[in-house]
Amino acid sequence: MRESTEPKPAGAALEKRLADEARFIKSWIENPLMAGAVSPSSRFLARAMAHAIDPRTEGPIVELGPGTGPVTQALIDKGVAPGRLVLIEYDEGFCRLLAERFPGARVVQGDAYNLPATLRDALDAPASAIVSSLPLLNKPEALRLRLLADALELMEADGVFVQFTYGMVSPMPLSRRRGARHRWFQAQASAPILRNLPPARVWAYRRPGAPGRVSFGETPPILGKLKATTGKMKAELKESADKAQADLADLKGKLARLQEEVREVSGRAEARLKIGADRIEAELKEAADKAQAGLIAGARKLLVEIEEATRKLRDGLDDKARRRAGRDDAGGEG
Ligand SMILES: C[S@@+](CC[C@H](N)C(=O)[O-])C[C@H]1O[C@@H](n2cnc3c(N)ncnc32)[C@H](O)[C@@H]1O
Repeated sequence: MRESTEPKPAGAALEKRLADEARFIKSWIENPLMAGAVSPSSRFLARAMAHAIDPRTEGPIVELGPGTGPVTQALIDKGVAPGRLVLIEYDEGFCRLLAERFPGARVVQGDAYNLPATLRDALDAPASAIVSSLPLLNKPEALRLRLLADALELMEADGVFVQFTYGMVSPMPLSRRRGARHRWFQAQASAPILRNLPPARVWAYRRPGAPGRVSFGETPPILGKLKATTGKMKAELKESADKAQADLADLKGKLARLQEEVREVSGRAEARLKIGADRIEAELKEAADKAQAGLIAGARKLLVEIEEATRKLRDGLDDKARRRAGRDDAGGEG
């Protein structure tokens, strides 16, 4: 049965990984120098390898030593159509597995170190990239350099040869040797990929003058730091915003409670004021009534006294008039 390249449930993916590990160990036991590793590359290493190629280029992409296919899968995930892939693998068992896993790709069983002969019938156009997981370090330097020279020859002018290594230095010798430096290729290395056992590094080799730089998909240290700082600032800002929001909600609650209290107090004060005003009004009315009654009584008393005085005055005048009249009568008779 053919295995699809669709995402698998976690259990199936784990089962596949364990099966691949077992295949690899078996191949390593049978031929440690050929296998070059005891387990397949991690997806982080495979991704870095795939990142070094540009899927928008045209032409075949050749993979050397695909094993169980982690780098092949990463290339497909990167956007390379399986039909563009030519997989050169020495191990027969791996070849069968690759043909099952990547039915669209062309699998060639053969020796990658004899590249022109192995690829003779498999390439119908110059390759745009050659991606290699071959265990180079157990091969003489001259053979490695010949492999690179053949690979560059089989590619477009700006083609890239991608190779991973567990070593500390470039597997294609860069140092001054016998007074001459290799000037027919340029090299570029990724940062160490620590999430692989053992940690590895990806190298990209191109012809001198090939434009631009190869990217391995890693974050430059300065950008990494910037990202980390921005992330930290974002988290801090979010925390402050959350706290401010919580404080605001708290304040709103307090304000609502305060408004309620003010309403209650002012209601009570209004009621009390009304009672006070009513009482004052009643007292004022009583005082006014009292004053009015006093005034009326005073006026009445004054009226009685005026009448009494008027009566007395009239009586006095009458008396006086009577006496004068008496005197007058007496004087007339005399
Ligand atoms: C280190 S393993 C890498 C496998 C796989 N690409 C990965 O990353 O897990 C090396 C692979 O290269 C294959 N190999 C070794 N020498 C080879 C050769 N001369 N020609 C073709 N394949 C070879 C081995 O069979 C093995 O599958």
